[in-house]
Amino acid sequence: MKPILYADKEVRLIDQTRLPLEEVWVSIKSGAEAAEAIKSMKIRGAPAIGITAAYGLALHALHSPLTDLAALKAELAEVSRELAATRPTAVNLFWALKRMEEVQAQTVPELRERLLAEAQAIAAEDEAMCRAMGRHGAELVPAGARVLTHCNAGALATGDYGTALGVIRAAHEQGKNIHVWVDETRPFLQGSRLTAWELAHEGIPATLLCDNAAGHLMQQGQVDLVVVGSDRITARGDVANKIGTYTLAVLCREHGIPFYVAAPRSTIDLAIESGRDIPIEQRDSREVTHVHGNEVATRGVKVFNPAFDVTPAELVTAIITEQGIHRPPFGPVLAQVAKR
Ligand code: MRU
Repeated sequence: MKPILYADKEVRLIDQTRLPLEEVWVSIKSGAEAAEAIKSMKIRGAPAIGITAAYGLALHALHSPLTDLAALKAELAEVSRELAATRPTAVNLFWALKRMEEVQAQTVPELRERLLAEAQAIAAEDEAMCRAMGRHGAELVPAGARVLTHCNAGALATGDYGTALGVIRAAHEQGKNIHVWVDETRPFLQGSRLTAWELAHEGIPATLLCDNAAGHLMQQGQVDLVVVGSDRITARGDVANKIGTYTLAVLCREHGIPFYVAAPRSTIDLAIESGRDIPIEQRDSREVTHVHGNEVATRGVKVFNPAFDVTPAELVTAIITEQGIHRPPFGPVLAQVAKR
């Protein structure tokens, strides 16, 4: 279920704005097209954004007619700025762009080859990290568990396999007979459109609920654990993730339910200590006022539409990375994981 495929100087992406009604693949051949795909959320999810941005730079180099190394590097720096301006919250984007900027070469053909190899390595490493997170995280999932997840932290959001959904996939593959509660995830509906679609493909039993039904479900004793992905984890373990995640973490504390976060090292931002300093993307009001192009809100009403929120480290039971399961205090271990 890889959402990003490279072949012959072209990247193909499954258009996630069209799922689950249509499975349409779009082709991109430039950094500008990669930036547009990220901004319009044809591709979304922290690791997948980073991978697409890395390919965007590689594609620019592969298609550029420039033969002068310094001139091509200057152009690439410009494209990198354009990609960096697409979405502010997921640090994986900036992590991937930095890796691409560090690629060294003596000639233009060598630079093209190395940029492509680096983008492919970022994608392959991400898939391997997701599978490792799945193996580790599955240990936290008891047989017969009823697991709630929010947004889409699945194969569609990564190189493949997923972070939070990777944990769920691994537990299912181990025959643990789990059931997944899928939060709808208003307003962009990543849960109902994307997570439910992935789980249906895998044959993993799942039930969709409106986000505001989660508290009731927990009160009824129907949730054994919550696992989500992340867009940025600060040095102390504060977690930015899809809007509504913080609400779930507070509910988990009230009901004594473990709250787990699965994320690779590319999501850890050691430069930021407190979650208060994470930039939170504000998105178009039409995402709230319209459903499939139909107006559903009172015309002219003001809209508050933050795409992410921050869960303080104190509400996180454990963070699952490719290195293992980490319990609080998170600071020292996150510093180690991020450096590897
Ligand atoms: O706005 P999105 O769809 O890009 O938000 C995605 C999320 O919040 C995911 O939970 C996060 O990126 C982790 S994806 C493995």
